[in-house]
Order: sequence, then structure tokens, then C-alpha cells
Amino acid sequence: MNAPAAKPLLRALTGDAVWPPPLWLMRQAGRHLPEYRAIRADAGDFLSLCTNPPLAAEATLQPVRRYGMDGAILFSDILILPWALGQALRFAQGEGPVLEPIRDAAALARLDASRLAAGIAPILETVRRVRAGLAAEAPRTALIGFAGAPFTVACYMVEGHGSKDYAAARGMAYADPALFGRLIRLLVDTTAEYLIAQADAGAEALMLFDSWSGMLSPSQFRRWVIEPTAEIVRAIRKRHPTIPLIGFPRLAGPMLADYAGRAGTNAVAMDTGMDPRWAAQAVPATTTLQGNLDPLALLAGGMALEVEARAILAAMRGRPFVFNLGHGVIPPTPPEHVTALVRLVRMG
Ligand code: CP3
Repeated sequence: MNAPAAKPLLRALTGDAVWPPPLWLMRQAGRHLPEYRAIRADAGDFLSLCTNPPLAAEATLQPVRRYGMDGAILFSDILILPWALGQALRFAQGEGPVLEPIRDAAALARLDASRLAAGIAPILETVRRVRAGLAAEAPRTALIGFAGAPFTVACYMVEGHGSKDYAAARGMAYADPALFGRLIRLLVDTTAEYLIAQADAGAEALMLFDSWSGMLSPSQFRRWVIEPTAEIVRAIRKRHPTIPLIGFPRLAGPMLADYAGRAGTNAVAMDTGMDPRWAAQAVPATTTLQGNLDPLALLAGGMALEVEARAILAAMRGRPFVFNLGHGVIPPTPPEHVTALVRLVRMG
């Protein structure tokens, strides 16, 4: 009936060296788009937008309409999961996310996995709406569901807010590994359940964002990044044996090669600092690479954008690859720069 393997993004994620490479951008939906700012104003706050299926579906589809992206990433946030488990969350204007920090066993015990299904219900409804919208409007674009990886979500849950070094979370991992391990265990189980539910609802690929993984020592990286990710991958594979999975161990540096070999995702995303020529050597072609244009080059546009994007294309030519940024689109980015990038990548 449907032939998902025909979508270029899904082909590239499952090992085809599709050329020109498919592309989509992290944070392609959001504040750089005037049409997003309009619905954001209608929704009120960001959490209300994430839990409003018609508006969240619209936000997901906006960049697909404007740019013809090969991937539509679900409009949501990695902090929806702790929120669905009962942790208080708000997005303060100009301050980023604020959560009630979890620093001891009593706070951990207040999280309630039995609330998960009700909390994520609106997100799953968004997935269904986007899938139907793509079938009608953009049949070659694939829907990417996502979650935060356990370590990065734990960083926000323990710290209670964004941080330069996540010292409270990383400190807990050393000082009380049993407590931190129980938090990670809860996150492995609920993240797997959440991602399986997104796939059941129509997500065609799934991505795990581990934005702060690169802060860990190599042994801690193996314990809190690679092992939990591998467990989630195994749990998803039991229910969805072939759905493409993308891992993003941001700032991992040379640990990217260990991650690619052992986490079990079909693809690994490279951050801005990763040399794609090094990654092409270090990561076998059985793992698709994704990335990694500097969002600041996209903001600058012109020659800077062209030179950087062409160098990435040259390094990735001939192997399974998905063009993306090394981190999310920055709000002041002019949409015309994104249009120019899409044209450049589509020329190969
Ligand atoms: O277009 C997309 O990429 C899909 C939606 C998406 C959002 N956040 C929307 C969002 C995705 C995939 C995320 C992931 C996410 N969220 C990560 C991992 C990726 C990364 O950036 O490292 C992290 C760490 C978060 C947590 C988070 N959410 C922070 C730190 C912030 C505040 C910073 C900011 O940009 O405002 C958010 C808010 C957020 N998430 C916004 C959007 C569009 C801005 C909300 C607004 O409209 O005001």
C-alpha cells in the first residue's frame, strides 16, 4: 500500500548512498519562520503549542511547505517526557526551560510512569495529523519522531534548567550512581515506550537527541550514553524491526565512532565541530552520517554558506548521507538563506 522505502530520506537512513543527498534541518520549524511566529502568538506559550495537535501539526508542516524538506520533524520538545511523568516544567521567556530539580530519592519517587500515556496523547495525535498532512501535501517527505536521549533529559531533570556544565547531573552520576542509574532506568523504559508509540502513530524514522553527551568522560559516556541508547534501540526493534533510527551524540568527538559501532542506530548525526572527513573514515558506511553545517554559516549566508556546505558534500559523496546542520537553526536566520541552501544541496 504505502511504499516508505521510496522516500529519499528513508532510503538514505537505511544505507543507500542517495545523491544528491536528502536534507532536513534541526529546528527547521520555529522562530526563524514568520508563519511560525504567527501561530506561536495564537497558542500563547510554547508548551500550549506543543500540546495543541492542530497547531503543532501546522508548525511541523510549515518548513516542508516553504522549503520542500525531505524530512518533517515532529514539532514538540525533548522535555515533554519529564513533563508527562509529572515533573513541573515551564518555558520562561528568554530564559529557556525551568523544571523542578530532582536531587534526591524522594523527588525521583514523585515521578509517575503511569501518567505517561495521558501526557503524550496530544503528541501522538499530532503525529497522526502530520502523517495524514504529508500524504496529502508532500508524499516524498518522511515524518521523523524524536525524544531526548536519557542522559540529556536527565541533565535538565536534575539541574532544573540549562547549564554550561551540568555539574549537578554529572556530579550525581559519580557521587550516587545508584540514584542516577534509577533515573536513567526510568528514562530508558519510558523513552522506548514513547518512541514506540510515535512509530505506532505514524512516525517513519525516530531520532534521539543527546545534546550534552559530549561532556562525559569516555567511561561515563559508555555507561550513560551508549548503553541506555542501545537498550532503547533494542526495545524499539522488538516492535518496529525496520524503522530507521538516528542518534545524535552531540560533542562526542572521537567517541562518535564507539557510538556508531555500539549504540545500534542506523544513522549518527555529526555536530558542528565534527570533521566530516574524519567521520567518513571512522564510521563504516553501514552507518549513515547526518550533518553538519554550522548554523552560523547558514545565518551568514552567501559565500560562507556555500564554501562550508560544499566541503561537507565533498566529504560525504558516495556514502549514505543526510544533509543537516550541526545544531539547530538560529532564530534570526533569514528564510532566504535556507532556500539558497536547499538549492545548493539539491545540485549535489
Ligand atoms: O524543528 C524542530 O527541530 C522540531 C522541534 C524541536 C524543538 N526542540 C522545538 C523547540 C526539537 C527536536 C527540540 C529538541 C530539543 N529541545 C533539544 C535537543 C536539541 C538541541 O537543541 O540540542 C533540547 C536540548 C531541547 C530543550 C529546549 N527546548 C531548550 C533548551 C529550549 C530553549 C531554547 C530556545 O531555543 O528557546 C527549548 C524551547 C524550544 N524547543 C523552542 C522550539 C521551537 C523555542 C520555543 C519558542 O517558540 O519560544
